[in-house]
Amino acid sequence: MKEQTPIKFDNMKALKTELIRFMMSYKFALEEMNTKIDILKQEFQYIHDYNPIEHVKSRLKSPESILKKSQRKGHVFSLPSIRENIRDIAGIRITCSFISDIYEISNMLQQQKDITLIDCKDYIKNPKPNGYQSLHLILQIPIFMSDREDHVYVEIQIRTIAMDFWASLEHKIYYKYNSKVPQRIIDDLKEAANSAAQLDAKMESIQKEMLKIKETSSDEENIHELMLNNERYHLPIDFLIPDLYSENK
Ligand code: GTP
Ligand code: MG
Repeated sequence: MKEQTPIKFDNMKALKTELIRFMMSYKFALEEMNTKIDILKQEFQYIHDYNPIEHVKSRLKSPESILKKSQRKGHVFSLPSIRENIRDIAGIRITCSFISDIYEISNMLQQQKDITLIDCKDYIKNPKPNGYQSLHLILQIPIFMSDREDHVYVEIQIRTIAMDFWASLEHKIYYKYNSKVPQRIIDDLKEAANSAAQLDAKMESIQKEMLKIKETSSDEENIHELMLNNERYHLPIDFLIPDLYSENK
Protein backbone atom coordinates (compact mmCIF):
# COMPACT_ATOMS: atom_id res chain seq x y z
CA MET A 1 0.00 0.00 0.00
CA LYS A 2 1.19 3.51 -0.81
CA GLU A 3 2.61 5.35 2.21
CA GLN A 4 0.75 8.53 3.08
CA THR A 5 2.42 11.82 3.90
CA PRO A 6 1.05 12.89 7.27
CA ILE A 7 -0.67 16.27 7.48
CA LYS A 8 1.61 18.50 9.60
CA PHE A 9 -0.36 20.55 12.12
CA ASP A 10 0.77 21.81 15.53
CA ASN A 11 -2.01 20.12 17.37
CA MET A 12 -5.34 18.38 17.04
CA LYS A 13 -7.29 21.58 17.69
CA ALA A 14 -5.71 23.33 14.72
CA LEU A 15 -6.45 20.28 12.57
CA LYS A 16 -10.07 20.24 13.67
CA THR A 17 -10.50 23.97 12.96
CA GLU A 18 -8.89 23.54 9.57
CA LEU A 19 -11.17 20.63 8.67
CA ILE A 20 -14.29 22.45 9.82
CA ARG A 21 -13.32 25.50 7.75
CA PHE A 22 -12.65 23.23 4.79
CA MET A 23 -16.04 21.50 4.98
CA MET A 24 -17.86 24.76 5.75
CA SER A 25 -16.97 26.33 2.43
CA TYR A 26 -18.63 23.37 0.66
CA LYS A 27 -21.72 23.68 2.83
CA PHE A 28 -21.94 27.39 1.94
CA ALA A 29 -21.39 26.60 -1.74
CA LEU A 30 -24.31 24.16 -1.62
CA GLU A 31 -26.50 26.73 0.09
CA GLU A 32 -25.57 29.40 -2.42
CA MET A 33 -26.15 27.13 -5.40
CA ASN A 34 -29.45 25.86 -3.98
CA THR A 35 -30.64 29.47 -3.63
CA LYS A 36 -29.70 30.13 -7.25
CA ILE A 37 -31.62 27.04 -8.37
CA ASP A 38 -34.62 27.98 -6.26
CA ILE A 39 -34.66 31.50 -7.75
CA LEU A 40 -34.58 30.07 -11.27
CA LYS A 41 -37.38 27.70 -10.39
CA GLN A 42 -39.63 30.40 -8.91
CA GLU A 43 -38.91 32.97 -11.59
CA PHE A 44 -39.49 30.47 -14.36
CA GLN A 45 -42.79 29.50 -12.81
CA TYR A 46 -43.99 33.13 -12.73
CA ILE A 47 -42.82 34.15 -16.16
CA HIS A 48 -43.44 31.00 -18.15
CA ASP A 49 -46.22 29.45 -16.11
CA TYR A 50 -44.23 26.26 -16.03
CA ASN A 51 -41.82 24.58 -13.63
CA PRO A 52 -38.80 22.97 -15.32
CA ILE A 53 -37.47 21.49 -12.07
CA GLU A 54 -39.10 18.45 -10.47
CA HIS A 55 -36.76 17.84 -7.53
CA VAL A 56 -33.41 19.03 -6.26
CA LYS A 57 -31.26 16.92 -3.95
CA SER A 58 -27.97 18.02 -2.54
CA ARG A 59 -25.32 16.25 -0.54
CA LEU A 60 -21.94 16.87 1.01
CA LYS A 61 -19.44 14.05 0.62
CA SER A 62 -18.44 12.68 4.02
CA PRO A 63 -14.82 13.22 5.11
CA GLU A 64 -14.45 9.41 5.01
CA SER A 65 -15.46 9.11 1.37
CA ILE A 66 -13.38 12.17 0.45
CA LEU A 67 -10.33 10.41 1.88
CA LYS A 68 -11.22 7.11 0.20
CA LYS A 69 -11.63 8.78 -3.19
CA SER A 70 -8.39 10.72 -2.78
CA GLN A 71 -6.57 7.48 -1.98
CA ARG A 72 -8.26 5.61 -4.83
CA LYS A 73 -7.24 8.27 -7.33
CA GLY A 74 -3.69 8.36 -5.94
CA HIS A 75 -3.66 12.08 -5.15
CA VAL A 76 -1.24 13.71 -2.72
CA PHE A 77 -2.82 13.60 0.71
CA SER A 78 -3.29 17.25 1.68
CA LEU A 79 -6.19 19.69 1.91
CA PRO A 80 -5.05 21.84 -1.08
CA SER A 81 -4.73 18.70 -3.18
CA ILE A 82 -8.16 17.44 -2.10
CA ARG A 83 -9.67 20.87 -2.78
CA GLU A 84 -8.24 20.90 -6.29
CA ASN A 85 -8.74 17.28 -7.27
CA ILE A 86 -11.96 16.11 -5.63
CA ARG A 87 -14.55 18.24 -7.35
CA ASP A 88 -17.69 16.52 -6.17
CA ILE A 89 -17.48 17.22 -2.43
CA ALA A 90 -20.51 19.46 -2.89
CA GLY A 91 -23.03 17.76 -5.18
CA ILE A 92 -26.46 18.73 -6.43
CA ARG A 93 -28.80 16.58 -8.51
CA ILE A 94 -31.57 18.34 -10.40
CA THR A 95 -34.38 16.24 -11.85
CA CYS A 96 -36.45 17.68 -14.70
CA SER A 97 -39.43 16.47 -16.70
CA PHE A 98 -37.98 17.09 -20.16
CA ILE A 99 -34.58 16.92 -21.85
CA SER A 100 -34.90 20.49 -23.14
CA ASP A 101 -35.27 21.66 -19.50
CA ILE A 102 -31.90 20.10 -18.68
CA TYR A 103 -30.08 22.26 -21.24
CA GLU A 104 -32.12 25.31 -20.34
CA ILE A 105 -31.23 25.04 -16.64
CA SER A 106 -27.61 24.31 -17.49
CA ASN A 107 -27.45 27.46 -19.68
CA MET A 108 -29.19 29.62 -17.10
CA LEU A 109 -26.65 28.59 -14.46
CA GLN A 110 -23.65 28.99 -16.76
CA GLN A 111 -24.74 32.50 -17.76
CA GLN A 112 -24.55 33.76 -14.17
CA LYS A 113 -21.57 36.08 -13.75
CA ASP A 114 -20.24 34.56 -10.54
CA ILE A 115 -20.37 31.00 -11.86
CA THR A 116 -17.44 29.56 -13.81
CA LEU A 117 -17.92 26.44 -15.88
CA ILE A 118 -14.97 24.14 -15.23
CA ASP A 119 -16.14 20.99 -16.98
CA CYS A 120 -19.20 19.65 -18.75
CA LYS A 121 -19.82 15.96 -19.49
CA ASP A 122 -22.82 15.38 -21.68
CA TYR A 123 -23.84 11.78 -21.12
CA ILE A 124 -27.14 12.53 -22.85
CA LYS A 125 -25.57 13.19 -26.25
CA ASN A 126 -22.95 10.52 -25.47
CA PRO A 127 -24.41 7.97 -23.02
CA LYS A 128 -21.99 5.76 -21.07
CA PRO A 129 -21.59 2.20 -22.48
CA ASN A 130 -23.90 0.84 -19.74
CA GLY A 131 -26.64 3.25 -20.87
CA TYR A 132 -26.17 5.92 -18.15
CA GLN A 133 -27.49 9.35 -19.17
CA SER A 134 -27.24 12.75 -17.42
CA LEU A 135 -25.63 16.13 -17.92
CA HIS A 136 -22.74 16.69 -15.50
CA LEU A 137 -21.36 20.13 -14.80
CA ILE A 138 -18.49 21.08 -12.57
CA LEU A 139 -19.05 24.69 -11.63
CA GLN A 140 -17.01 26.99 -9.43
CA ILE A 141 -18.53 29.73 -7.28
CA PRO A 142 -16.97 32.28 -4.96
CA ILE A 143 -17.88 32.13 -1.27
CA PHE A 144 -17.21 35.26 0.77
CA MET A 145 -16.30 34.63 4.39
CA SER A 146 -15.15 36.85 7.27
CA ASP A 147 -11.49 36.75 6.30
CA ARG A 148 -11.30 35.14 2.91
CA GLU A 149 -12.85 34.35 -0.43
CA ASP A 150 -12.92 30.69 -1.47
CA HIS A 151 -13.60 29.49 -4.98
CA VAL A 152 -15.47 26.26 -4.50
CA TYR A 153 -16.24 23.46 -6.95
CA VAL A 154 -19.78 22.10 -7.07
CA GLU A 155 -20.85 19.09 -9.15
CA ILE A 156 -24.29 19.45 -10.70
CA GLN A 157 -25.98 16.42 -12.26
CA ILE A 158 -29.04 17.30 -14.30
CA ARG A 159 -31.31 14.51 -15.58
CA THR A 160 -34.89 13.64 -16.42
CA ILE A 161 -37.16 11.60 -14.15
CA ALA A 162 -36.67 8.59 -16.46
CA MET A 163 -32.85 8.93 -16.37
CA ASP A 164 -32.98 9.25 -12.58
CA PHE A 165 -35.19 6.18 -12.25
CA TRP A 166 -32.74 4.19 -14.33
CA ALA A 167 -29.63 5.49 -12.52
CA SER A 168 -30.97 4.72 -9.06
CA LEU A 169 -31.85 1.14 -10.00
CA GLU A 170 -28.52 0.64 -11.75
CA HIS A 171 -26.71 2.01 -8.68
CA LYS A 172 -28.55 -0.43 -6.37
CA ILE A 173 -27.81 -3.38 -8.67
CA TYR A 174 -24.13 -2.43 -8.91
CA TYR A 175 -23.85 -2.41 -5.12
CA LYS A 176 -25.91 -5.56 -4.65
CA TYR A 177 -23.59 -7.55 -6.93
CA ASN A 178 -20.54 -5.83 -5.49
CA SER A 179 -19.66 -4.45 -8.96
CA LYS A 180 -19.79 -7.96 -10.59
CA VAL A 181 -23.15 -7.68 -12.33
CA PRO A 182 -24.16 -10.74 -14.42
CA GLN A 183 -24.16 -10.12 -18.19
CA ARG A 184 -27.90 -10.85 -18.45
CA ILE A 185 -28.66 -7.97 -16.07
CA ILE A 186 -26.16 -5.68 -17.82
CA ASP A 187 -28.01 -6.36 -21.10
CA ASP A 188 -31.42 -5.79 -19.50
CA LEU A 189 -30.23 -2.52 -18.01
CA LYS A 190 -28.96 -1.36 -21.39
CA GLU A 191 -32.34 -2.19 -22.91
CA ALA A 192 -34.11 -0.33 -20.09
CA ALA A 193 -31.86 2.70 -20.71
CA ASN A 194 -32.90 2.68 -24.38
CA SER A 195 -36.57 2.51 -23.37
CA ALA A 196 -36.06 5.40 -20.94
CA ALA A 197 -34.44 7.45 -23.74
CA GLN A 198 -37.36 6.67 -26.05
CA LEU A 199 -39.83 7.68 -23.35
CA ASP A 200 -37.96 10.98 -22.85
CA ALA A 201 -38.05 11.68 -26.59
CA LYS A 202 -41.78 10.93 -26.76
CA MET A 203 -42.60 13.06 -23.71
CA GLU A 204 -40.58 15.92 -25.19
CA SER A 205 -42.56 15.83 -28.43
CA ILE A 206 -45.88 15.76 -26.54
CA GLN A 207 -44.73 18.72 -24.45
CA LYS A 208 -43.84 20.65 -27.64
CA GLU A 209 -47.35 20.05 -28.94
CA MET A 210 -48.77 21.25 -25.63
CA LEU A 211 -46.69 24.43 -25.75
CA LYS A 212 -48.06 25.24 -29.20
CA ILE A 213 -51.63 25.03 -27.90
CA LYS A 214 -50.80 27.08 -24.81
CA GLU A 215 -49.24 29.93 -26.77
CA THR A 216 -52.57 30.60 -28.43
CA SER A 217 -54.55 30.86 -25.17
CA SER A 218 -54.66 33.86 -22.85
CA ASP A 219 -52.32 33.58 -19.88
CA GLU A 220 -53.54 36.52 -17.82
CA GLU A 221 -55.58 34.35 -15.49
CA ASN A 222 -52.66 32.02 -14.91
CA ILE A 223 -50.33 34.81 -13.90
CA HIS A 224 -52.91 36.10 -11.49
CA GLU A 225 -53.38 32.71 -9.87
CA LEU A 226 -49.70 31.84 -9.67
CA MET A 227 -48.90 35.04 -7.89
CA LEU A 228 -51.61 34.48 -5.34
CA ASN A 229 -50.65 30.85 -4.84
CA ASN A 230 -46.96 31.36 -4.24
CA GLU A 231 -45.98 28.86 -1.52
CA ARG A 232 -44.06 31.21 0.67
CA TYR A 233 -44.91 34.83 0.04
CA HIS A 234 -48.05 36.60 -0.81
CA LEU A 235 -47.07 39.00 -3.54
CA PRO A 236 -48.93 42.32 -3.61
CA ILE A 237 -50.38 41.71 -7.05
CA ASP A 238 -52.60 44.79 -6.98
CA PHE A 239 -49.37 46.77 -6.78
CA LEU A 240 -47.59 44.73 -9.45
CA ILE A 241 -50.41 44.51 -11.97
CA PRO A 242 -53.10 46.98 -10.90
CA ASP A 243 -55.19 46.73 -14.08
CA LEU A 244 -55.51 42.99 -13.94
CA TYR A 245 -56.41 43.13 -10.26
CA SER A 246 -59.14 45.75 -10.62
CA GLU A 247 -60.68 43.95 -13.61
CA ASN A 248 -60.99 40.71 -11.68
CA LYS A 249 -62.39 42.15 -8.46
P1 GTP B 1 -16.22 9.83 -9.99
O1 GTP B 1 -14.82 9.39 -9.72
O2 GTP B 1 -17.27 8.90 -9.41
O3 GTP B 1 -16.48 11.25 -9.58
O4 GTP B 1 -16.41 9.69 -11.54
P2 GTP B 1 -15.87 10.60 -12.73
O5 GTP B 1 -14.86 11.56 -12.25
O6 GTP B 1 -15.54 9.72 -13.89
O7 GTP B 1 -17.15 11.46 -13.03
P3 GTP B 1 -18.50 11.18 -13.79
O8 GTP B 1 -18.96 12.56 -14.13
O9 GTP B 1 -18.43 10.19 -14.89
O10 GTP B 1 -19.46 10.53 -12.67
C1 GTP B 1 -19.71 11.18 -11.48
C2 GTP B 1 -20.99 10.71 -10.83
O11 GTP B 1 -22.03 10.47 -11.78
C3 GTP B 1 -20.92 9.42 -10.06
O12 GTP B 1 -20.41 9.63 -8.77
C4 GTP B 1 -22.39 8.98 -10.05
O13 GTP B 1 -23.13 9.75 -9.11
C5 GTP B 1 -22.84 9.38 -11.41
N1 GTP B 1 -22.62 8.29 -12.39
C6 GTP B 1 -21.67 8.25 -13.33
N2 GTP B 1 -21.75 7.11 -14.04
C7 GTP B 1 -22.78 6.41 -13.53
C8 GTP B 1 -23.35 5.14 -13.85
O14 GTP B 1 -22.93 4.41 -14.75
N3 GTP B 1 -24.43 4.76 -13.11
C9 GTP B 1 -24.94 5.52 -12.10
N4 GTP B 1 -25.99 5.04 -11.44
N5 GTP B 1 -24.42 6.71 -11.78
C10 GTP B 1 -23.34 7.16 -12.48
MG1 MG C 1 -18.74 11.27 -7.67
